[in-house]
Amino acid sequence: MKNRLSITLALAFAAALPAHATLDGAAPLVIAHRGASGYLPEHTLAGYELAVKLGADYIEPDLQLTKDGVLVAMHDTTLNRTTNVADLFAARNGGYAVSDFTLAEIKTLTVKPVGTASTSYPGFTPSAADPFRVPTFQEVISLAKQQSLISGREVGIYPEAKQADPRMEDLILQTLVANGYDGHEKVFIQSFSADTIRSLHDKQAQMGVDFKLIVLSSSSTALLNYGLANIASFADGVGPSITGAGMSESFISAAHAAGLMVHGYTFSKNNPATAVPEYLKFFGWGMDGVFSNYADIALDARAQYIASVPEPSSYGLMALGLVAMGALMRRRSAQA
Ligand code: G3P
Ligand code: CA
Repeated sequence: MKNRLSITLALAFAAALPAHATLDGAAPLVIAHRGASGYLPEHTLAGYELAVKLGADYIEPDLQLTKDGVLVAMHDTTLNRTTNVADLFAARNGGYAVSDFTLAEIKTLTVKPVGTASTSYPGFTPSAADPFRVPTFQEVISLAKQQSLISGREVGIYPEAKQADPRMEDLILQTLVANGYDGHEKVFIQSFSADTIRSLHDKQAQMGVDFKLIVLSSSSTALLNYGLANIASFADGVGPSITGAGMSESFISAAHAAGLMVHGYTFSKNNPATAVPEYLKFFGWGMDGVFSNYADIALDARAQYIASVPEPSSYGLMALGLVAMGALMRRRSAQA
């Protein structure tokens, strides 16, 4: 009877233990930052599809608004860093603001590789007919849904409102709802503007949807100064720079204590010898998700991290072993 109670307690103890130091005890998330942006042109259907093929949990579109009010996946407020706009629209000879171009004009552009990206990736052929155009938010969602069906796993989306603009908030929410999302899916909405996230929180309540919301910041110290409890009243997590002021294990612990997830940006090392130890450090600190330009390296690091952490089931087996050993020793001493 005593042994049965011990076994039950050991199993209950093991079942209650979280597997990882993340807020919910689950393995940390891998978010494909601007798609597979280390390999293919950022914010393109080709880059997003490759990120899914590499195994990323989420694909991240930064969002800008065109002149005619369409959400497109683009990091910069201007088109010239990542597209051939200066060649095609030389006559405009200006700042090439996304907001000065219609969607039809933007659709004539080709997104070019920057940084370590290239126009091809070994063994990968994009399925989109025109994979290096600037995609709309709708096209990114459609790709995520299509790839979810093909891969048999839900591909998450992680849109970022790049402008603190109520029109953009409304369009993001309307587009998600029009696509059948209500907050039960793998969707995060992020912004560097806490006011935008607070506004999204309020609008969601009015609409009866509940997408997870993340407040970004280049400084963990700034997030602390803003007040983590304050942020937790309207957001689900924070997205700090991994190189910004105040990033530390104690910051992640403080965020968790406030009930906030921590998704760090940007993991941009492309040499596994230096990249993997960096991921392992942040995973060990309990980071809940990583924005990575190289999802494959992030996933390798996550696999190594998971392999290094004993599963709760093994705690249970260890506890059961101790119970059995104690019973054996008691029986032996009773026989002696
Ligand atoms: O959104 C997280 C991270 O992407 C923020 O940096 O400038 O690449 O959007 P940025
Ligand atoms: Ca972003």
